[in-house]
Amino acid sequence: MGITGVSESGGESAERTYEAMAPVYDDFTAHHEYDLWTADLLKILERRGLHGSRLLDVACGTGKSFMEMLPRGWEVTACDISPAMLEQARAKAGDTVELAVADMLSLPEFGEFDLVWALDDAVNYLLSPAELERALAGMAANLAATGLLLFDVNALQAYRTFFSQTEVVERGGRRLVWRGLAAPDVPPSSICESRLEIGPDESLTHRQRHFSEAEVLEALRAAGLECLDVYGHGLDGIPRQPLDEATHTKALYVSRLAGV
Ligand SMILES: C[S@@+](CC[C@H](N)C(=O)[O-])C[C@H]1O[C@@H](n2cnc3c(N)ncnc32)[C@H](O)[C@@H]1O
Repeated sequence: MGITGVSESGGESAERTYEAMAPVYDDFTAHHEYDLWTADLLKILERRGLHGSRLLDVACGTGKSFMEMLPRGWEVTACDISPAMLEQARAKAGDTVELAVADMLSLPEFGEFDLVWALDDAVNYLLSPAELERALAGMAANLAATGLLLFDVNALQAYRTFFSQTEVVERGGRRLVWRGLAAPDVPPSSICESRLEIGPDESLTHRQRHFSEAEVLEALRAAGLECLDVYGHGLDGIPRQPLDEATHTKALYVSRLAGV
């Protein structure tokens, strides 16, 4: 089963998690191939007419996604709820990127962007369809008239595997132990938790909600967005249609302002 009775917002829970995780985040995700993944993401966006060079990266973390866009000529504004994650991003990007602390539940209007994205399951830290709709409305308010919005969410299979298993990552002299606490048959739309042990006496909780395709499509509609494409992918990161929650680990949504 998933957990029930969560009393704090997704932002509050995620901020606590990532303030503690920031120093080890890049080690924990060292095997993620952001160069290949972002190249595939750009292909699906180009099929929908991606143009321009202004990117807003929402929940940018340590900057692993946006760093891939700088050599491609994109001007980047990026935000995250965790100041410690942004410090890591600043160390990578220096002054080449505008960085701001912001909760995606109350996203400021940073400008008009050709591309707004929120990557690597950042959106799953939102804990209800109402929070998802609020975050998407904030992203929509930052889109240029012909801009595109892209985000991914973990598919059900990710909660039934990664979030229900133990995984050990050893890197740079550190031993990180991920203990997924979800049941291997956790139902759709559940809130799931995992403990990440980052030191002998230190561990932190990742709390995420699964969003079904129907919930995401409804939240997009309510936020004034038109869904253009839904893709799914497995561990190879190659987007495929249709999304299959039973075999894909991620779902990708491409959208734009409704009525454009
Ligand atoms: C798995 S990391 C992904 C980071 C980055 N997007 C990437 O691709 O590497 C999730 C990030 O989402 C951020 N986050 C979670 N909830 C948030 C919220 N409500 N507002 C802003 N950032 C949030 C966390 O602080 C964390 O940096």
